[in-house]
Amino acid sequence: MDAVEKLSREDFKELRDYIYDQSGLHFSDAKLYFLENRISRRLKALNQTSYRDYLAHIKKPIHKRELFSLFDAITTNETSFYRNPPQIDAFAKNILPAVVKKLKERGQRTLRIWSAACSSGEEPYTLAMILKDRQDLLQGLNATVYGTDISNEIIEQAKTAVYKPYTMRHLPNKFQDRYFTKQDKEFKVHDSVKSLVNISYFNLVDYAAYRRFRNMDIILCRNVLIYFDLKVKRNIIKGFWESLNKDGYLLIGHSESLHNINRDFKMQHYSRALAYLKES
Ligand SMILES: C[S@@+](CC[C@H](N)C(=O)[O-])C[C@H]1O[C@@H](n2cnc3c(N)ncnc32)[C@H](O)[C@@H]1O
Repeated sequence: MDAVEKLSREDFKELRDYIYDQSGLHFSDAKLYFLENRISRRLKALNQTSYRDYLAHIKKPIHKRELFSLFDAITTNETSFYRNPPQIDAFAKNILPAVVKKLKERGQRTLRIWSAACSSGEEPYTLAMILKDRQDLLQGLNATVYGTDISNEIIEQAKTAVYKPYTMRHLPNKFQDRYFTKQDKEFKVHDSVKSLVNISYFNLVDYAAYRRFRNMDIILCRNVLIYFDLKVKRNIIKGFWESLNKDGYLLIGHSESLHNINRDFKMQHYSRALAYLKES
C-alpha cells in the first residue's frame, strides 16, 4: 500500500472546519501535525492515502459511521479516578448533602447526576462510589449517575469498567478496598457500583438532544470546555442550565471558568475548589 500523503494547510483547514461543525472541537493552526498524526490512522484503516479523499469519503451520508471513528481518533481521553481531589471532596462533603437536603424538602425521590464527557468512566464511577459511601444520607432516594461521551470506543471501555492501577492513584484506599475486585494486574469495579451508573453516547453540540437529560441535580463537565471556542461553550453551558433542576450544581475543570460565558450561575467557594449553583 502507498504511504499516506502529508496533510496540506488547505486540507487541514477544511478538515478542522468539518470537525468543528460536527463536534465543536476547535483545532488552532498550531494543531496541523496533531490532526495529521491522529487522522493518519483512519486513512490507513480505510486503505486511503489522501486527506482530501478522506474528507470526501466521510462527508457522504452512506459513510456516516466513519464520523464516530474520527471522533475516537481525535479526542483526548485523559482522566483518572477522584480527579482534582479538592473538588471531589467538595462534591462529597458539601454539594451532595446540600442537594439532598433541598430535594428532600421538595419531596423529590430521585437524585440524578450527569458526568458529561466522562471518558473511560473513572468520573461517574467515582461519584457512584461516593453515593454508596453516603447511603446514610441517600436513604429513600433513587440515585443514578449518567456518564456520556462522544467517543464510542471510550464508552465501551467505560462499560467494561476494568482499570489499571495508575488511573486509581488519587482514589482513597478505602474505595479501592471496598469497590474493586483485583483481576490479575487490573481492577474491576463492583456490580453494586456499576448498577448506579448509566453510560451512553452524547455529543455536547447536539443541542436538541439535551432534552434527554432534563431534571439533573448535579452536572460535572470537567476538562473538556478547554477544547471549545466561546460560542460553543456558551451554548453548552446554556444547555446545562436548562438541564439542571433549581438548586442544582455545575462543576467544571479547575483550569476552566464561566467568566464571559454565563452570568446566571452563582459561584460557590469551597476549600481549594469551586462549583456553580443554579439558584433560581
Ligand atoms: C480530557 S477528557 C475529560 C474526562 C473527565 N471529564 C475528566 O475530567 O477526567 C475529555 C473528554 O471529552 C470528550 N469530548 C470531546 N468532545 C466532546 C463532545 N463534543 N461531546 C461529548 N464529549 C466530548 C472526549 O471524548 C474525552 O473523553
